[in-house]
Amino acid sequence: MKTIIYYFTGTGNSLAAARKIAGPLGDCEVVPIASFADTTGTVVPDAGRVGIVCPVYFAGLPAMAASFAERLDFASANYVFSVVTHGGGGGTAALRQLDGILKKGAGRGLDAGFAVSMPGNYILAYESPTGEKRDRLLAAADSDLEAIADRIRHGERLKLPYSPLTSAIRAIVYPGFLSRVHGDDRKLTVSGECTSCGTCASICPAGNIEMVDGRPVWNHRCELCCGCIHLCPAEAIQAGSGTEGRQRYRNPSVSMAELKRQRGDEP
Ligand SMILES: Cc1cc2nc3c(=O)[nH]c(=O)nc-3n(C[C@H](O)[C@H](O)[C@H](O)COP(=O)(O)O)c2cc1C
Repeated sequence: MKTIIYYFTGTGNSLAAARKIAGPLGDCEVVPIASFADTTGTVVPDAGRVGIVCPVYFAGLPAMAASFAERLDFASANYVFSVVTHGGGGGTAALRQLDGILKKGAGRGLDAGFAVSMPGNYILAYESPTGEKRDRLLAAADSDLEAIADRIRHGERLKLPYSPLTSAIRAIVYPGFLSRVHGDDRKLTVSGECTSCGTCASICPAGNIEMVDGRPVWNHRCELCCGCIHLCPAEAIQAGSGTEGRQRYRNPSVSMAELKRQRGDEP
């Protein structure tokens, strides 16, 4: 059976997860959600099995993933799954959000949903794990993903887990995140270390960064994925003094070139 996995990523965890699942599924296309950002209308995946893989943001979905899910129509799909990657919690609430969106728009929800713990990348609040801790987390995620791929391959239908605490947290923090996310790039600044390489502009999944006179300018369509902060080779992008000196993160199995291809406008 053909599978299409749609993914959104800031620092590569969710792309690494999507690829890890795609391998054992055989005929599987891994497609960036960001490549639909400049399009409108219904998306009808031409596959019997459809997956959505993305990070958890504030115990919910990234804004772009939520809007994309609203556009899906599962005319030919008979199995729909999701894997959300997170740095510590909120996965069950994000899966329930997605399930609700799909039921409302596409008329059918998730057949199975999984939350996988990976290194947290919300650098505005904390430093991503480094060294052995990071390696342990990635190794554990790899083995979780292998088991998940197996369950998906066997078409397991699962009741979505429910956590009242996580749902309550989501109800408190997610609406605020959603209402301010696109303008949150006002917190971002670039220092004199900037080499005008344009990496930030080319990796931004929202196409939100323009190089003006060799410096990045953010155009308030931010997804807060933190990709520009983490992936700037000169570590020249900050969000206030809190991000200064914090270790940057990129999933080690994902290349810069792959992250640049997310919007579909890089070769
Ligand atoms: C804006 C933002 C909000 C986040 N919120 C959560 C959260 O609520 N719970 C959590 O466990 N991790 C949270 N994280 C961490 C990410 O979900 C996690 O690191 C994810 O694997 C990143 O995936 P990516 O590399 O594909 O972008 C957040 C990260 C960002 C950038």
